Amino acid sequence: MASGKSEKWTPGMGWNPVEKVIMQRRSIRSFRNEPLPDALIQRVLEAGRFAPSAGNSQPWKFIVVNSPIIISEMERDAVRASKFFMRMHDYSRTEKRRHYLKPYTKLMIRLQPNDLHPVPFGLMQQIARDNARAFYGAPTLILLLEDVRGVANPSTDIGICGQNMVIAAHSLGLGTCWIGMVKILTYMSKWRKFFGIKYPYKLNNCIALGWPKGKFDGEVPREVQLVTWFDGGMHDPPKIVRQGE
Ligand SMILES: Cc1cc2nc3c(=O)[nH]c(=O)nc-3n(C[C@H](O)[C@H](O)[C@H](O)COP(=O)(O)O)c2cc1C
Repeated sequence: MASGKSEKWTPGMGWNPVEKVIMQRRSIRSFRNEPLPDALIQRVLEAGRFAPSAGNSQPWKFIVVNSPIIISEMERDAVRASKFFMRMHDYSRTEKRRHYLKPYTKLMIRLQPNDLHPVPFGLMQQIARDNARAFYGAPTLILLLEDVRGVANPSTDIGICGQNMVIAAHSLGLGTCWIGMVKILTYMSKWRKFFGIKYPYKLNNCIALGWPKGKFDGEVPREVQLVTWFDGGMHDPPKIVRQGE
């Protein structure tokens, strides 16, 4: 590996404060029942607003939900919607359902492979059974709306923008959890109308935000990445470096 000169990096040095936040941030799924000051939420939003985006198109719109009344209703509807989805798609419960429902569910999985991936499907099952909460009792939700007319790939811009907020929030002592499950609410016209989600905007994601309570769920392991490095000339083979060992 080339060794460049840097005033901020020396070989073998420990993580700097930014890297520490990146490495130590974990999704928080338990929050203190305490509202956050508006000024703190605005500081987090500011980190999102300053995110890079293709062509500086800034294809986003933020909605802050601070109201326990509204968040409770979102939680209730997430349970209702999850129950509905389970009735429509979960063929594992009886032999009869397996017979009639399986081909339909398989087709739906093919049409919506990301939304009906086993991970969100499993979470939906847990929410439907009241074993998990969609929003984990967070006092604040930030909804990230995507302007679908954005340059190139607006979904990538939203991811960068949201992660800027997440990193800033953790650096300020807050806990966050991305809540992709929020999408389930957009199947209900009630919520699309309530939040005014219509073309050119769509709900891309949600970040739950609050003071963390207790210990986080535990570290989720990361895969070692086999990274291909091209260091030589056009005819030299690349080297493969195991990143993360
Ligand atoms: C785009 C996105 C959507 C996510 N949606 C959910 C969700 O709906 N519910 C949830 O509990 N966790 C959700 N997560 C959190 C992931 O499960 C978590 O980031 C992953 O397991 C790694 O754990 P860590 O964040 O603690 O490092 C989501 C994460 C991302 C990036």
